[in-house]
Amino acid sequence: MGSWFFEEKDKIGILTLDKPGTDVNVLTTESLTEFKDQHLAKIAARIDLEALMIRSAKSRIFVAGADINEIAGITTEKDAFEKAEQGKAVFQKLEDLKIPTVCVINGACLGGGYELALACTYRVAAFSDNVKIGLPEANLGILPGFGGSIRLPRLLGLTKALPMILAGRVVSAKDALKVGMVDRLFPAGSLDADALAFTRQAVQKKIRPKKRTKDFMTGFLEDNPLGRSLVFSRAREDVAQKAKHFYPAPYEIIKLIEKTYGRVSPRAYRLESEHFARLGTTGVSKNLIKLFFMSEKYKKVAWTKLAVKTPPVKKCGVIGAGVMGGGIAQLVSAKNIPVRVKDINEGALGGALREAQQIYQGALKRRKITGYEMARKMNLISVGLTPEGLQRCDVIIEAVVEDLGIKQKVFKDLDERASAGTILASNTSSLSVTKMAAVTQNPGRVIGLHFFNPVHRMPLVEIIRAEQTSEETIDRMVQFARLLGKTVIVVQDAPGFLVNRLLLPYMNEAAYLLETGMGPEQIDRLVENFGMPMGPVELADQVGIDVGVKVAHILQDAFGARMRVADILEDVKQKGLLGKKSGKGFYLHQGKKKTVNPEVKTGTHPAKVSEEDALKRMIYIMINEAARCLEEGVVDSPETVDMGMVMGTGFPPFRAGLLHYADQTGLQNIVTDLERFAATVDRERFQPSPYLLKLAKENRKFYS
Ligand SMILES: NC(=O)c1ccc[n+]([C@@H]2O[C@H](COP(=O)([O-])OP(=O)(O)OC[C@H]3O[C@@H](n4cnc5c(N)ncnc54)[C@H](O)[C@@H]3O)[C@@H](O)[C@H]2O)c1
Repeated sequence: MGSWFFEEKDKIGILTLDKPGTDVNVLTTESLTEFKDQHLAKIAARIDLEALMIRSAKSRIFVAGADINEIAGITTEKDAFEKAEQGKAVFQKLEDLKIPTVCVINGACLGGGYELALACTYRVAAFSDNVKIGLPEANLGILPGFGGSIRLPRLLGLTKALPMILAGRVVSAKDALKVGMVDRLFPAGSLDADALAFTRQAVQKKIRPKKRTKDFMTGFLEDNPLGRSLVFSRAREDVAQKAKHFYPAPYEIIKLIEKTYGRVSPRAYRLESEHFARLGTTGVSKNLIKLFFMSEKYKKVAWTKLAVKTPPVKKCGVIGAGVMGGGIAQLVSAKNIPVRVKDINEGALGGALREAQQIYQGALKRRKITGYEMARKMNLISVGLTPEGLQRCDVIIEAVVEDLGIKQKVFKDLDERASAGTILASNTSSLSVTKMAAVTQNPGRVIGLHFFNPVHRMPLVEIIRAEQTSEETIDRMVQFARLLGKTVIVVQDAPGFLVNRLLLPYMNEAAYLLETGMGPEQIDRLVENFGMPMGPVELADQVGIDVGVKVAHILQDAFGARMRVADILEDVKQKGLLGKKSGKGFYLHQGKKKTVNPEVKTGTHPAKVSEEDALKRMIYIMINEAARCLEEGVVDSPETVDMGMVMGTGFPPFRAGLLHYADQTGLQNIVTDLERFAATVDRERFQPSPYLLKLAKENRKFYS
């Protein structure tokens, strides 16, 4: 069955893409060949046709992009080169048609989809939230290979197009119109009719492709070699800062556009295919694609076997207006859900409101929201010292201090007050949710909902299934967290759950390395060079040494000697060096500047450790602990570990997660090193877990 359907209305051809058996259009080799051979060839031969419209039959998608499965399957540069050449041959045929062509964008128009649009004479789109337009290829470690790297700069100019391609930026319909990526917006309800009328006007030459106007500065930057070299060198600096040396795609994009900007020759297009080919086979691209597939999957994982969907959360309560409670309240209000915040301290309530206001102000400054929207969303947050307004909430999230006794008191009280249908959630980082549920009459409605700090930025919510949490409670919270824009993983109720259970031993190991005499900056640099967004010593300062030590002790109590808290952490905490919040921790924090704090005594247990071993100790300790989490059933799969680590800790996306990294390193190699560390550094901390040993022995991987 074909994907393209042709019809005619008064000499205007209308080609509709409707990939069978799915609600998503993607461009496959097959559908591109069909487009070219069965339609474009015929249309080119028709002298009576006056124009062509290209549209989608899917309700929310024009074309989501080229088929990523095909990109993932590329194994050689030659293969990659040929794929790019085939695609651009199709779009060249489209561009070469002698009649006006109009691309009608009703929804997502990404990557190959927008490259198709770029080969048309005009692009019109629906004024709808479904419309998302851009060339996000760089996010998959590749570049637009169907002519987009040439045509977008030609359409928008170098200064606008280059940053968009480098960042893989996807924009709304409104922004697409503003920058010139589309020519017109029409109401979604009348898109087809309006697009047809637009096409008629194009035929009658009442509309012509817009000529770009440039101000003096843009003209200087784009039209002479000196200006252009300035643009490229700035782009290189920017990329060096953001992508560091980890991501080759942005560098390749700059090199390509440097050679092709202002040229429309076949040679320019060929160069694009050559640069595409270089990226299409890199390990980085393969890993980013793996991560893309995982993220897509985790947007939909059911997590329960419930056949009927639970109702959406319409009102939310938060107990505790501190860092986390305030952040959660802001996020909930941002999604237009009323939220009631209760604290025992009036000052904390004011602080939470100020914090929310600040976040909105930032969004206002970046023109993400209007002043009116900001006021409306702020009005959705109400605060108080009494429990009024909590009874009718669909969920109440507890975010008071990390103390089981205090949390149990809060849960007992909530259980008595809240109506029967209200879910009671805890934002605890490490404590037993089952023990909180134990003080309630209905433990089925108690669950862990672990947000990360800062709440509005961190993309993960770890949902904790306590012993008696009901399926309905889990499903409702999964939907709620997704509504808040978060990626969800569901894990069992065990100390530290998943993310902190891995992260704390890693930070603890960094502390042990400080004791050997390595410096904080050296350790942080090692880990940053591995690709983590921040080193573990700085992270400890950011989290707060007191908070970190508290959680570390909870893990030590639960898991014993292998999680023994390093003395240096206790020492620093006792000196009152709490990290960034007190201005002093392992570093001295003055504004954005940080220098090593001389008050911290490192090298208390001197030992010679190579940088390679130091890095291995920190990373492998996490891999070993992740193997235990799998073995104990705390997590259901290696994918959940990887989603948790990438989304919850910023584990380098180009490595596709901790366990993909482990598989690529080789489990036997990891076991050999762990055994060496167990023999020479500490038996308890590094003893390989039975599951890791088993996999390595059987020459298997975490991902089968
Ligand atoms: N800060 C983080 O980075 C982070 C990240 C994830 C999870 N958590 C968890 O979130 C929870 C809150 O952490 P935080 O950093 O926001 O703490 P915080 O100290 O900033 O805020 C706690 C707030 O709770 C209030 N409070 C204490 N007892 C109360 C009670 N009985 N009723 C109402 N309010 C009460 C306090 O007045 C304070 O305003 C903890 O369980 C913590 O482990 C924290």
